[in-house]
Amino acid sequence: MRRSGRLTPSQRRALDELWPTYGIDFKPQILNFDSVFSRAAPRILEIGFGNGDTLVQQAGEDPSRDFLGIEVHDPGIGHCLIAAQKAAITNLRLIAHDAIEVLESQIPSASIHRINVYFPDPWPKKRHHKRRIIQPPFLDLCADRLEPRGSLRIATDWADYAGHIIEVLAQSDRFTCIEQREHDGDKPLDRPMTKFERRGLHHGHRIWDWRFDRIR
Ligand SMILES: C[S@@+](CC[C@H](N)C(=O)[O-])C[C@H]1O[C@@H](n2cnc3c(N)ncnc32)[C@H](O)[C@@H]1O
Repeated sequence: MRRSGRLTPSQRRALDELWPTYGIDFKPQILNFDSVFSRAAPRILEIGFGNGDTLVQQAGEDPSRDFLGIEVHDPGIGHCLIAAQKAAITNLRLIAHDAIEVLESQIPSASIHRINVYFPDPWPKKRHHKRRIIQPPFLDLCADRLEPRGSLRIATDWADYAGHIIEVLAQSDRFTCIEQREHDGDKPLDRPMTKFERRGLHHGHRIWDWRFDRIR
């Protein structure tokens, strides 16, 4: 699952030198967040953070919360590490592994205040739709790891994926839709603009944002 891609020399250096500060190695063992972050605070999990600019911005703007990012693309992880160090961020940790395995084996039940899944891979070809991360078993896993009234935020710029998200969430008895927005990048729901959102807008796509709260 880990995607090595082409690393710049500074990204490679960041992976070597900054990983001990910000990284959590994947291990099939439940984490103790109070000891990971050396405090008790609400925890925000971002799945597939890309280059991490949005994640670092959110962590910088909200020092009272702890942020955990999961990503498999090494150049993005390197970019995020550099941005986190530049901004002197202390409330952020990263895991470089498949998000589903991390949720299954490292994240305690009812431990997360909010999960962000911003612009997940759309897998536009019909025969690849089953690879989309937003599926019923993924939603059950997220519901279990969220606090009882925790929330799941999703955004996409793919009309067809938006239809899929509306359908699978409507079938879930674990979440209720608190807010849905369709816009042109001008009304993001409680989040900064992301790199893939900018790319989608450039291609003339509309943007969908949701907040779903856990109800069970
Ligand atoms: C379309 S990009 C969006 C990146 C970023 N959220 C943004 O909006 O700019 C989707 C990201 O999810 C990551 N990703 C895909 N599947 C993943 C998985 N199973 N676990 C962790 N990250 C994943 C990809 O590597 C990619 O960086």
